[in-house]
Amino acid sequence: MDKEYLLAPGPTPVPPEILLAMAQPMIHHRAPVYEKLLQEVRENLKYLFQTKKEVLIFSSSGTGAMEGAVTNTLSAGDKVLVIQGGKFGERWANICKAYGVKPLIVALEWGQGIDPAKIGRALKENPSIKAVFSQATETSTGVLYPIREIAAIVAEYPATIMVVDGISHLGAVELPMDEWKLDVVVAGSQKALMLPPGLAFAAVSDKAWGFVEKSTLPRFYFDFKKELKNITQNQSAYTPAVSLVIGLAESLKRIRSEGLEKIFARHALLAKATREAMLALGLSLYAPQAYSNAVTAAVAPPGIDGEKIVRILREKYHLTIAGGQDQAKGKIFRIAHMGYIDRADIIMAVSAIEMTLKELGYPLEFGQGVRAAQEVFARG
Ligand SMILES: Cc1ncc(COP(=O)(O)O)c(C=O)c1O
Repeated sequence: MDKEYLLAPGPTPVPPEILLAMAQPMIHHRAPVYEKLLQEVRENLKYLFQTKKEVLIFSSSGTGAMEGAVTNTLSAGDKVLVIQGGKFGERWANICKAYGVKPLIVALEWGQGIDPAKIGRALKENPSIKAVFSQATETSTGVLYPIREIAAIVAEYPATIMVVDGISHLGAVELPMDEWKLDVVVAGSQKALMLPPGLAFAAVSDKAWGFVEKSTLPRFYFDFKKELKNITQNQSAYTPAVSLVIGLAESLKRIRSEGLEKIFARHALLAKATREAMLALGLSLYAPQAYSNAVTAAVAPPGIDGEKIVRILREKYHLTIAGGQDQAKGKIFRIAHMGYIDRADIIMAVSAIEMTLKELGYPLEFGQGVRAAQEVFARG
């Protein structure tokens, strides 16, 4: 029998108690038992997003909430700024284009962060920009963007909103919506929330609700106003993914009992151990400065195909990590430490990576990377 290990940046492993919760007999979504559950979920989602606003829930992958963030706040012909340093920045731009919204791209070299002053300059030069779109963590590169600083700049512009994709970030790394003045934050279930794919979330600030009133883009399923009206009555406009919401209730309880501060510290420790292990193996980090604590991208050694590393790990060690996408394909491999991941997972992944690299002819001493990770954990 093969035992599978999942350290990919989504979907991530689901804890047994959440799996069990989702296996319960079906309940009806218009019945009081579901409404009670949703009431609790609403409160705990506010805790997770660190907001007083409602967090809307949709039955879709995260991209659904991204699309909703565009269609509910903007109108055709609007100009927006998109920070694009990877695959998911491209997605913001593509959604905008699909709806006739005009993205001005702030293009970044993949793996590099951004100086927030660049956004300040762009807004000064283009005062008609309606929204700034960014990822919090760009999963394709492992880069963390300075959302707090960028949002502080955007907050000075009353006619511009800050829209953040927190899909690979929220619940792993800090993203306090209200304190940082974020206007729309979207998330998905299959990352740090430790759930299967299938739920998307969007939280909307007062400023952004003002934009919703004026927006004229077409929308139907992802209609924020309609969902707001429903969720405040512990309901949803359409049949919700009941079992996933039951799982969500369990996951949020788990998150609340560990506490956000501890959760962020755990992710920081796991990420540090992973980075140190890669460096101790003589590898370089794809995001050497602006790295996220949700996912670590390492550069494959010269002459070794990153895709081969991923394949051997999967086929021989039943361990799933992710390779590179598009321009990073074959060049990097990505280890996620997001959600239901602990120290032993990292030690095991690093040791399997060592064996894989050795098999591919990379010169290393067994234990080089593992030891570096162990040392980080021992220091705690
Ligand atoms: C940062 C980021 N944004 C958006 C998405 C897209 O989410 P989904 O695949 O759930 O639609 C992902 C998924 O990997 C992501 O990591």
